[in-house]
Amino acid sequence: MTKKILTIVGTRPQFIKTALVSKLLRKSTKITEVLVHTGQHYDDNLSKIFFREMELPEPDYNLNTGSGSHGEQTGAMLIMLEKVIMKEKPALVLVYGDTNSTLAGALATVKLGIPLVHVEAGPRSFNRLMPEEINRITTDHLSSLLFAPTAQSALNLYREGIPAARVFYTGDVMYDTFLHYSPRAEQSNILERLGIKKKHYVLVTIHRAENTDNNMCLRYIADALKELSPKFPVIAALHPRTQAALAINEIQLEGNIWTISPPGYLDMNKLEKNARLIITDSGGVQREAFFHRVPCITLRAETEWPETVKCGWTRLLSPGPDLGALLKKEVYCPEQGSPVSGMFFGYGKAVPRIVKRLDEYISGK
Ligand code: UD1
Ligand code: UDP
Repeated sequence: MTKKILTIVGTRPQFIKTALVSKLLRKSTKITEVLVHTGQHYDDNLSKIFFREMELPEPDYNLNTGSGSHGEQTGAMLIMLEKVIMKEKPALVLVYGDTNSTLAGALATVKLGIPLVHVEAGPRSFNRLMPEEINRITTDHLSSLLFAPTAQSALNLYREGIPAARVFYTGDVMYDTFLHYSPRAEQSNILERLGIKKKHYVLVTIHRAENTDNNMCLRYIADALKELSPKFPVIAALHPRTQAALAINEIQLEGNIWTISPPGYLDMNKLEKNARLIITDSGGVQREAFFHRVPCITLRAETEWPETVKCGWTRLLSPGPDLGALLKKEVYCPEQGSPVSGMFFGYGKAVPRIVKRLDEYISGK
């Protein structure tokens, strides 16, 4: 008889992270996977497109939670997830990353006495004002099995007193995913569709609350992008949160800035690979910039991925009045990191390692 694993996802990066894991889980003769989409992300280009192009299985449940304040959103998910978990009675529940969907899944699971497994356990920004930091810490401390994407993440867990027997350093599933989909991303014709030349544009994504919910920060970013845009066009793939924040604050993106709606994973990776410089506040995009070895400016004061900073492929810049001047310098001569930077994110074997350990775990080993 197979044992049931219930996977909970709800946001763009979680659909990407579960793509290969879900596929491999479904090949195991010991496991039946039930996939739950919380509905935290619901626009087609933040949700459906990833299921389609990464050939993810259709979710067994879509809870259609939608947007709201942290309490409203997390609470609504918690109520619905509890019902699903009680009905499905899984042997364990799998959650990914650090979003409100992760936190709600974690709380619903452990309150029902079911083992919780966390993929991407242990990254820390050490900034507790970030909602994601609270979600990560809480989820890690509630988990029975923790899969750490980097050695530093495993060390963070150890320092927080999480028993070493629960923690497995696997490498980053995002790196496996990057390797797996790279040939297909290469086929994307997004550069032709946009009429842009390789290494002659800057790619921008912004969605973090600390940037979008701060009027001054948004203005600094808009002014800085305008300043650097005459030389190289700026392709800004804007999350709906950022589009809404710009509109509410009456901030126009002026200059040679092309705003595009968020592309899917394949187009996005083609854009990343061929950018002259990437400017982002996304943890996923920052890592992918490193995977592609493209210089990246992260518009934040700190990062939970210090490896990419240490080897010189990421530079942290907090938005301020001098951001434009600093970015202009970077775009003329993007600073390359170390050519021999290590394999901080594993060797592309995180997914089989995770599934093997899950197979063993549900067999009582
Ligand atoms: C969430 C995660 C963040 C992650 C990001 C990935 C939390 C606290 N934050 O941020 O860690 O990096 O996802 O992209 O869980 N909206 C739409 N359409 C959608 C989804 C959202 O228009 O399909 C708009 C709504 O106005 C909403 C806002 O975006 O209020 C923010 O969405 P939300 O899911 O709360 O957080 P994200 O910023 O997406
Ligand atoms: N991504 C995408 N389209 C976009 C922006 C990001 O496909 O417009 C992908 C990106 O390639 C990476 C992941 O989404 O794989 C990162 O997710 P996001 O930036 O939403 O969240 P974070 O990683 O910051 O939690």
